[in-house]
Amino acid sequence: MTDDAIGLLLTAEQIRQRVVELGVAIAKDYAGREPVLVGVLKGSLVFMADLARQIDGPLSVDFMSITSYGDGSHSGVVRILKDLDEPITGRDVILVEDIIDTGLTLTYLINTLRARGPATLEICGLLNRDARRIIEVPVKYKGFDIPDRFVIGYGLDHEGRFRNLSHILGVSDMDALRDPDVVDTVLASLP
Ligand code: IMP
Ligand code: MG
Repeated sequence: MTDDAIGLLLTAEQIRQRVVELGVAIAKDYAGREPVLVGVLKGSLVFMADLARQIDGPLSVDFMSITSYGDGSHSGVVRILKDLDEPITGRDVILVEDIIDTGLTLTYLINTLRARGPATLEICGLLNRDARRIIEVPVKYKGFDIPDRFVIGYGLDHEGRFRNLSHILGVSDMDALRDPDVVDTVLASLP
């Protein structure tokens, strides 16, 4: 197993700085309005909490939880496990995503939310990975473009784990994630 089977991709400090910039941009664009940040569970959990606190101005938050149908093949068919608590008709909605990959999930969500008649609907994605894009999606607020590697940390999981890491790690050997010794060594080496 090589050293970079799992490696540091974005440090907590790099993420923090970029989230500040995104928050400032959103606060400026939405001055005088009261947007609702819609987080897609569970991956957006950490990003949402940090981003919301960097937006100076009134806002509300709401969450959706979705799952891809069936065998995980990229059908683009998504099932809503938990819908929004509040109507978004006439609201300025910002959809907050952890990562935009194929674009299928986001496309489904955009279509679903648009049908409810929001005043505006924009996307804020922490990470963007173009390599596997199937459908182009308009991401107004983008944190980072990342290479074609699986990522964990800062809300992003592998089989439910690693969401609590402060840094974002890139994984080039998925087997390494299932090797406790490798994982322990990597986690112990983080700044
Ligand atoms: P898409 O429909 O392919 O764009 O899928 C996006 C969703 O898949 C994200 O919201 C994540 O929850 C999940 N996902 C995609 N890539 C990764 C990754 O590298 N690590 C962890 N989760 C991922
Ligand atoms: Mg996920």
